[in-house]
Order: sequence, then structure tokens, then C-alpha cells
Amino acid sequence: MAEIKTERLDGYRRLIDIARDLASTLDLDILLSRIVHAAAEISGAEAASILLYDDTSRQLYFQVSTNMDDATRRGIIVPLDGSIAGWIVNNRQTVRVMNAHEDPRFFSNVEETTGLSTESLLGIPLVTKNKIVGVLEALNKHKGKFTDVDESMLLVLGAQAAVAIENARLFQQSDLISEFVHELRTPLASLSTATYLLLRPEMSQDQRDQIVNNIHNETIRLNALASSFLDLARLESGRVQFRKATFSVADLLYECKDVMSSKATEDNIQIRVESPEGLPLLEADRDKVKQVLLNLLSNAVKYNRPNGMVMLRAEASEKEISIYVQDTGLGIPDESVPHLFEKFFRVREHESRVAGTGLGLSICKQIINGHGGRIEVRSKIGVGTVFLVSLPRASKTQQRVEEVETPKQQKKKH
Ligand SMILES: Nc1ncnc2c1ncn2[C@@H]1O[C@H](COP(=O)(O)OP(=O)(O)O)[C@@H](O)[C@H]1O
Ligand SMILES: [Mg+2]
Repeated sequence: MAEIKTERLDGYRRLIDIARDLASTLDLDILLSRIVHAAAEISGAEAASILLYDDTSRQLYFQVSTNMDDATRRGIIVPLDGSIAGWIVNNRQTVRVMNAHEDPRFFSNVEETTGLSTESLLGIPLVTKNKIVGVLEALNKHKGKFTDVDESMLLVLGAQAAVAIENARLFQQSDLISEFVHELRTPLASLSTATYLLLRPEMSQDQRDQIVNNIHNETIRLNALASSFLDLARLESGRVQFRKATFSVADLLYECKDVMSSKATEDNIQIRVESPEGLPLLEADRDKVKQVLLNLLSNAVKYNRPNGMVMLRAEASEKEISIYVQDTGLGIPDESVPHLFEKFFRVREHESRVAGTGLGLSICKQIINGHGGRIEVRSKIGVGTVFLVSLPRASKTQQRVEEVETPKQQKKKH
């Protein structure tokens, strides 16, 4: 009796250690391997496995097992109907059997894969926030059969494991974050090299000045990267509310020209605005449309050639207002055009010439799509590039309001 108590106490102590261990990793592979080893250990089993459940495809995949580390065998689909694990997913209940082979739900394919003959089995659903993420199974109890204590300890482990798996999956899915972290590596590496060099006694004053200048530029770039990244993350999460206003596009074009004029003059580039008389007003989020136009205009200046030109032009059709940002610059290679609006994408040939983050066009696209508009590009190497932004003259919500307000007019039409 006393022996069982200490055993149990040790088990719970072990569980606390494991919980800490699980919380410390977001790497799904490492995490799963830690979970199965912990599961086998605390339940006194020969082996343990995890099957993950994908609720979009409604499929269960065999993932890891303590006695199998060949990654190519992973991902075997285990049928939801016709397997013990599937039954656990469907019923969200624990299964404890003495001889798995005698159980009608037993699915032997996995056994062939793992090369382990299953006798006794204890399986639990991995559930977090009322969502099933998978199944954890302990196989072949070393001595006797799986007990109530084994089951309750495995359930505690399973609850922690489910949360950790969900977190790791969410982290994996958030490619924006991982891409961002990846993008941070380059500037951080150059900052670290720069500071290392500054500490070398043999550096001349000229070299030191040059290094400090590099550090300054890298920090500016990091800053731009951080604020663009935040902008994009907010837009992608759908948390940005567009504040509609009615405004003159021509005024906005002149305003953008003014903002960019000193940079353009620096590079000897001329900016021209052309907008027809009587251009109708646009209803949209003015600040956000300005952000788009400034992004396009700054690209048109940045990727231009000396003494080049940029033309800002607007025109209206019955339903849309179209704004063209045209330059006489480097142009974009055909094979790069389909990737332009991807996050962090930059044309390779431009990377070394001008600093950038590769986020500007992704932000533009998010804003324009959010307004129900379109953004398109045409480009010719050595000749120039034109970006076209088309926005509906009145926002969709506004049209709906008008329809509701004028039922009489509508009736008349019929
Ligand atoms: N007007 C342009 N002319 C030539 N290339 C362009 C132009 N606008 C964008 N590009 C290319 O598209 C890439 C992505 O643009 P963007 O998302 O604004 O990022 P960034 O300007 O920070 O590099 C740029 O790196 C550049 O290679
Ligand atoms: Mg840009």
C-alpha cells in the first residue's frame, strides 16, 4: 500500500516536470516525441504513440511512436471508422483493453508500420478548448494491466499535451511570424558583425565611421520592417476597420507628390500629376488609400533611373475610379511579376541596389482588397512599370444603405 502511494507521488512529481518541459517548446516534432516518451514512462508501458486529428479533412494521422523514429513512415491515415483511435476521436472517451487484437475496432496497419505487436492498450483523446487534436495511446503494460491510476495520470498528461500541440500548430501556421523572424536574422547578423568590428583595436577612424553608418542604416531598416510588419499583421487578422470618407482623388495625388518630392529631387526624378476635370469624389478610407499611393509612389521613385519620371494619373468610369502610378524605371522581370504581392518578396536584381522590406505591396493589396478594389501591374524591363489601382466609387455598404433608403424609386423601376 505504502509502496503504491510513493509510486503515485513520484508519478505526479514527474508529471509536473513534464508539464514544464512541454511548455518550453514550440517545435511540434520535439514536442510530440517528448509526449510519447513521457506517456510510456508514467503509465509503465512498452511504447506510446500519438495520432493527430485534422478537423478540416476529418482525418486521423499516425504521427509518432516511442519505438519508431523513421520520419518517412509518418502520416499514415488511420480510418476514423474501424480503428480504436478513430473510436476515441468519435466518442471522445478513453479506451482500455487487455488484448487489442480481440477488439473489433483494432486497426492492424499501424502495427505493421511500428513493428510492435500490441497487446494491452490504454488510449485517451487529446482535447483542448473542446476541440479534439488527436489521440494518445500507451501500449503493452510492462506488468499486469493498465490501472485507474495509469488512466488518470495519462489524462493529466494528455490535457497538457493537447494545449502544447495546439500552440505548436498555431505557431507553425503563423508563417507571418516565422517569416518575420527569418527576415530579422539578416539585419541582426550584420549589426552583430558591425559591433564586433567596432571593438577591434586595429580599426581606423574612417572604418569606424563607415561601420557606425552601416549600423545606422540597418536600424532604420529594422524599424521600417517592424512597423510594416505590424501594419500587415493587423490587416491580415481583419482587425482593421476602414473609416470611410468622401474625398477628392486629385487633391490626394498632389498631396502624395508633395510628400515624395524631396526624395524625388534627390534622385533627379520628376513627378507629374494628371487628373481630368470633374473627376468624381471617391468614397473610401482616405488615410489607407494614401498609404497605398505613397507605397506605390515611393517604389516608382526608388526603382527608377536617374533623370527618370513618375506619372500619377486618375480616371473614372461609371463604377470605378482608377489610379495609375507609372514610372520610367528598371522594370520587373516577367518571372517575378506573379510573386510581387507575396510577403517579403523582392526582385533579386533590386535587392542589392535599394533597401526595402518586401512588405509594401502586400500591404497595398490588403488595403485595396479590403475596399473591394483591384490592384494590377504591367512592366517592361528597361522601360518601366505601371501599377493600377481600381476602387469602387461608392463602398458596398453605402450602396446597401441607399437601396434601403429609396424603396419608392426601386418600385417605380418595376
Ligand atoms: N515600380 C517598380 N519598379 C520596379 N520594381 C518594383 C516596383 N515596385 C515594386 N518593385 C519590386 O517589387 C518588390 C516588392 O515591392 P515592395 O513590396 O514595395 O517592397 P520593397 O519596396 O520594400 O522592396 C521590390 O523589392 C521591387 O523589386
Ligand atoms: Mg516598397
